[in-house]
Amino acid sequence: MSRDLARPLVLGLETSCDETSVAVLAGDDTILGHVILSQDVHEVYGGVVPELAARAHLQKIDAVVDEALRRAGVRLADIDVIGVTAGPGLIGALLVGVCWAKAVAYGLGRPLVPVHHMEAHLFAPSLEQPDAVPPFVSLLVSGGHTLLLHAEEWGSYRLLGQTRDDAAGEAFDKVAKLLGLPYPGGPSIQRVAEAGDAGRHRLPRPMLRRNQTPAGDDFYDFSFSGLKTAVVELVRAVEKGAGPQGLQRETPNIAAAFQAAAVDVLVTKTLRAVEQTGCSRVVLGGGVSANALLRREMARRLHAADPSGKVFHASPRLSLDNGAMVARAARFRFERGDVADLDASASASLPFPGLGGSDLRVIPRA
Ligand code: KG4
Ligand code: ZN
Repeated sequence: MSRDLARPLVLGLETSCDETSVAVLAGDDTILGHVILSQDVHEVYGGVVPELAARAHLQKIDAVVDEALRRAGVRLADIDVIGVTAGPGLIGALLVGVCWAKAVAYGLGRPLVPVHHMEAHLFAPSLEQPDAVPPFVSLLVSGGHTLLLHAEEWGSYRLLGQTRDDAAGEAFDKVAKLLGLPYPGGPSIQRVAEAGDAGRHRLPRPMLRRNQTPAGDDFYDFSFSGLKTAVVELVRAVEKGAGPQGLQRETPNIAAAFQAAAVDVLVTKTLRAVEQTGCSRVVLGGGVSANALLRREMARRLHAADPSGKVFHASPRLSLDNGAMVARAARFRFERGDVADLDASASASLPFPGLGGSDLRVIPRA
């Protein structure tokens, strides 16, 4: 296979949390081979155990790379660029991917490109929808982050808002645990909420008031820990009044009320960004963007505000952590010359690149 560095063949590795994922991406964005292995060792603990995550990545990384290459029909020696998530995430888990990538980049003499996990999420929708490119407003919602950005072009972002405490996905995970639903909590809440009535319980919309103005720093910011506490209190009250069986009956309604409150805040703040920037193209990214109500409400309310507006999101497979988005972001960074030395390392709290001076207060994963 001839090497064309204008359209490089990129290997993307993702090991920042509990998915071991590798993709081979062609220069025209065709995903030639892609493997996403979700670790199931964490299920019994109701959340990701960092040490177990790192060990499971180490055990599986070689096999996952081999399978991605096999599906792509290429050899490791055909790869032009090695892209790897360097942060943010669980440090032990990140190091597995970064050390593997460094060793192979050195051994094969290929460029090593570190990728910011959340910038990779930003690129994911463009793999399936070629017009999901800047300018756009983006809501990035994952297990560790909740970011509202204005992307003027790739690599040049303005941070509008972020969470002050729990991330959106973390709130879904914690509320699910509280309701006795399996990990990961997002899909569990969504499934159980389908049978529920969101109007049966009224939960607060934290950081959302009508009199907020763009000059206030709470205009775009999020907070989810108060919503979680409100669910704790609601669960206690229901259990006190109706007992454990009554709580079980109410669980779909509580899940639906929580989901509605979280989605309402996420959509309202994103629409504020649309109004203020004048940009009615919205990109949803991160694991929570797989949520059906979030997708539906974002599209419905954006179209009501601006019929020419458009919402982009990846399919659920590419919304969750995956190697293809890492490969895509790595190609962009490679084109910009952001190649790392072999003394590069991983960082649990890597700052978002391209924020143009604004300071991202990185909230570490719980
Ligand atoms: O991006 P991601 O796969 O990993 C991180 O970077 O954290 O996001 C994982 C998060 C978890 O908190 C999970 O509960 C949430 O995304 N999630 C969802 C849904 N699917 C995954 N949240 C709400 N609804 C969903 N359908
Ligand atoms: Zn993620």
